[in-house]
Amino acid sequence: MDFARLADVDVRGKRVFIRADLNVPQDDAGAITDDSRIRASVPGIRDALTRGALVMVTSHLGRPKEGVWTAADSLAPVAERLSQLLARRVPLIKDWVDGGSWHSALKSGEVVLLENCRVNKGEKADDDVLARKMAKLCDVYVNDAFGTAHRAEATTHGIAKHAPIACAGPLMSAELEALGKALAQPLRPLVAIVGGSKVSTKLTVLKALAGKVDALIVGGGIANTFILAAHGHVGRSLVEADLVHEAQAILDAFPGKVPIPVDAVCAKEFSATAKPTLKAIENLEPDDMILDVGPTSVAALKMIIAKAGTIVWNGPIGVFEFDAFAAGTKALAEAIAGSSAFSIAGGGDTVAAIHKFGIADKISYISTAGGAFLEFLEGKTLPAVAILEARAKG
Ligand code: 3PG
Ligand code: MG
Repeated sequence: MDFARLADVDVRGKRVFIRADLNVPQDDAGAITDDSRIRASVPGIRDALTRGALVMVTSHLGRPKEGVWTAADSLAPVAERLSQLLARRVPLIKDWVDGGSWHSALKSGEVVLLENCRVNKGEKADDDVLARKMAKLCDVYVNDAFGTAHRAEATTHGIAKHAPIACAGPLMSAELEALGKALAQPLRPLVAIVGGSKVSTKLTVLKALAGKVDALIVGGGIANTFILAAHGHVGRSLVEADLVHEAQAILDAFPGKVPIPVDAVCAKEFSATAKPTLKAIENLEPDDMILDVGPTSVAALKMIIAKAGTIVWNGPIGVFEFDAFAAGTKALAEAIAGSSAFSIAGGGDTVAAIHKFGIADKISYISTAGGAFLEFLEGKTLPAVAILEARAKG
């Protein structure tokens, strides 16, 4: 990938605008429940600061209504966490698009956080007037928001057209490098694990990956749709019956590539206290729900993972939030951790599973992205990356 990088830009005394992805999960009271994205954004900010830049950082948080600021959409909790991580106060600036006294007061080696950029009218539509105004605030635009690289919005795309210099931050570069390494010339066999609840949200990625990988392991509700295609029944399991033909088409086009579970841990209800029962798929009753893969299926998956040269993982394979149904995801996580393959994982649930099972340090690369990670796997062009490449061509 050919684009300018922050590390190669002389930022001393320059106004540097960093678009980060600080879109962190919060509990009902607004407290941050996972600060990984903030921590991952610190190196880029610190680099610009220590080299004497005047630093402005912004991000979206959630999907607020444009033009109306509410306290629930505020980056205030993020500003607080960022202040702790940088060990300095990071002022939060509201109504910042047109600059003003906060902008003229900013000094070399100082950093401010600009309020939720999705509150600005025109952000989502990549409005050019808004993009030009924001570009005027800076000498250097840095996109370090890989998690939002699949969105063409004013802070991820439009501003990059108009800023005097547009470059990628260290997180953006690292994410693209890791994903490129996993997919461009992977050490074979290349194994992808795609779990999660719905085939519909991941159908395009399943199709795209099926053609590239040596094995495609499906899990969760996605696996149920494949089981329905292969075995003709799934009891009362979460399934998308209208997509069975799509699952069947993948099975037909890539025979032997998609292992189908032969046993499952079932329950009569979806709850943490439900009684787990191990069954062969052929013995499922109409009121059984599949909540995890069974040990025979897990053993087969472990063999595939043990031989892998590269592993790409998105989505849990069972309801790992419930201890009685966590064994499959745990065994898979441990198999990945124990493998010598280059492994890359992304997506909120996947990262939560990795932390739950304590294997974070045994995964080669953990992405901060969810949607952008999937779109990269699909082979789609990420607009925020494409514009940086276009700028590098001049
Ligand atoms: C994410 O959480 O996947 C990114 O921050 C992008 O958020 P969005 O889906 O609201 O655009
Ligand atoms: Mg999202």
